[in-house]
Amino acid sequence: MALFKDMLKSNEELINDEYPLDFEYLPKPLLYRETEQRKVAGCIRPLLEGRNGRNVFIHGPPGVGKTAAIRHVLNELEDETDEVIPIYINCWQKNSSFKLLMEMCEILKYKFTHNKRTDELFNIVKGILNRKAAVIALDEVDKLEDFDLVYSMLEEIFKKSIIMITNFHDFIDKLDLRVKSRLLPEMIEFRPYNLNETRGILKQRSEYAFPPNVLEADALETIAKKTAELEDMRTGLHLMREAALAAENRSSRKIELRDVEEAIKKIDHLTVKSSDELASDEKMILDICRANSESKIGELFKIYHGKGGSLVYKSFQRKIEKLSENKFISTEKVSGGKDGKTTIVKYGQAKKLTDF
Ligand SMILES: Nc1ncnc2c1ncn2[C@@H]1O[C@H](COP(=O)(O)OP(=O)(O)O)[C@@H](O)[C@H]1O
Ligand SMILES: [Mg+2]
Repeated sequence: MALFKDMLKSNEELINDEYPLDFEYLPKPLLYRETEQRKVAGCIRPLLEGRNGRNVFIHGPPGVGKTAAIRHVLNELEDETDEVIPIYINCWQKNSSFKLLMEMCEILKYKFTHNKRTDELFNIVKGILNRKAAVIALDEVDKLEDFDLVYSMLEEIFKKSIIMITNFHDFIDKLDLRVKSRLLPEMIEFRPYNLNETRGILKQRSEYAFPPNVLEADALETIAKKTAELEDMRTGLHLMREAALAAENRSSRKIELRDVEEAIKKIDHLTVKSSDELASDEKMILDICRANSESKIGELFKIYHGKGGSLVYKSFQRKIEKLSENKFISTEKVSGGKDGKTTIVKYGQAKKLTDF
């Protein structure tokens, strides 16, 4: 009997290299984002010629390559010149002017920050940056709690491009007028990838992660379809890793469709239903929630009506509740509105697992 013949030997792991499946991994080349990267480069170009740069506002849903694209542009810039200082900061952790400045000092290798106040730190950073030019990318900029530093940089750093990146396209409207009127950014939208692009990106990653022929074609295809449906590339990376673990668990030498199906089952209790299964008015409402995430329910209803929606407010509210129960969106009651409270609707609860 060849009971153990097909079993995986302990030194034959399915995953060649786990790192490419990491969300942080920066693949090269970054597929399908050339246009967007060129646009950003175009805004930076004047800095290379000794002039002031243009500011950029990048928006698009989670998992569409915004962070990856900007990190690529900054890496290339760094390779190209010493005259323009690239600074990338994620505002999730560095959410105040003080924390941003501390991080900038760290990037600029300035060490004597101890006991210094925000204005003192700014003067130091300003001194360093104004000797050259700078590109300052603020990722997840919507998490920033005060824009004092951004304002000061707009006023007092002479040769710069400030790049703001966010999942929320209407964030720019909420910016302080002082900042907005000085920022005047080039707007660059990152749209979700279509199925073809999704497949291409995941194939590229799978080739880095797995030995040849380990991930079967129908398995990859199913991952690509699920990922394209959820419009977040992190889903695909997560599914590839989970499917590989499922295959390893059954000592298989290949990652097969059934492994992917098992991985999908695990995320499906989060998504409950695929958006394909929603009725058309529900889909329309979901689309509106997606395009206007973190809006008040009353505002969403107005948009819905404007687009020709026929439900009355009560029924609209019930649909919102249903979408929330099914984790397509999440809702939060806050103070405001006519009777003292209103509901804020946030898109994307369905993708909780990829939400970090
Ligand atoms: N065009 C692409 N080519 C290769 N990998 C990509 C591409 N777009 C996104 N990814 C990968 O998908 C994941 C999410 O991308 P990320 O840039 O973090 O998205 P966002 O910042 O828009 O939320 C990352 O692991 C990233 O490497
Ligand atoms: Mg990002």
